[in-house]
Amino acid sequence: MAKSDKKPAVKAPVKTAARPVTKAASKSAVGPIDIGISGKDREAIAKGLNGLLADTFTLYLTTHNFHWNVTGPMFNTLHVMFMDQYTELWNAVDPIAERIRALGVCASGSFGDFRKLSTLPDAPSTPPKAKDMIRTLVNGHEAVARTARSLFPLVDQASDEPTADLLTQRLDVHEKAAWMLRSLLEE
Ligand SMILES: [Fe+2]
Repeated sequence: MAKSDKKPAVKAPVKTAARPVTKAASKSAVGPIDIGISGKDREAIAKGLNGLLADTFTLYLTTHNFHWNVTGPMFNTLHVMFMDQYTELWNAVDPIAERIRALGVCASGSFGDFRKLSTLPDAPSTPPKAKDMIRTLVNGHEAVARTARSLFPLVDQASDEPTADLLTQRLDVHEKAAWMLRSLLEE
């Protein structure tokens, strides 16, 4: 038999004794979520955040729609402004969804759920005039701000600081965007 035909030696598996479950090991087992917020509060906050997620996604889609379909003498300004805004909104949905997950609840992520949960209307199927797009977006940003603000009493009483921080950031963005869009409507 040629040297290369030799089968490689197979090492016998090393047998290890099964580890007995010690008291220390059982203590390190992962139990239910215990971050200092009750399950009832975690669920209530996550429910509110799922509403904020639906609002944010709806406003993102409407803003991207308007970026594509805007026409008229303000085209360039609005096309670029809407792009900045939809990019910000797109980036915002992830931290909102991940905060919901950290609270131990599933994040919504379907058009059906978003339609049910959103306080904003769906994007219009026929593109409106540029100024009506701006009005729609002012109303949208203010509606999302109201949704975010409505969660503070619950979040504060549960001492949920990460959610309060997230809501504060979202409020700043939506109120600023509403102001900028409103300014475009002034004569
Ligand atoms: Fe584009």
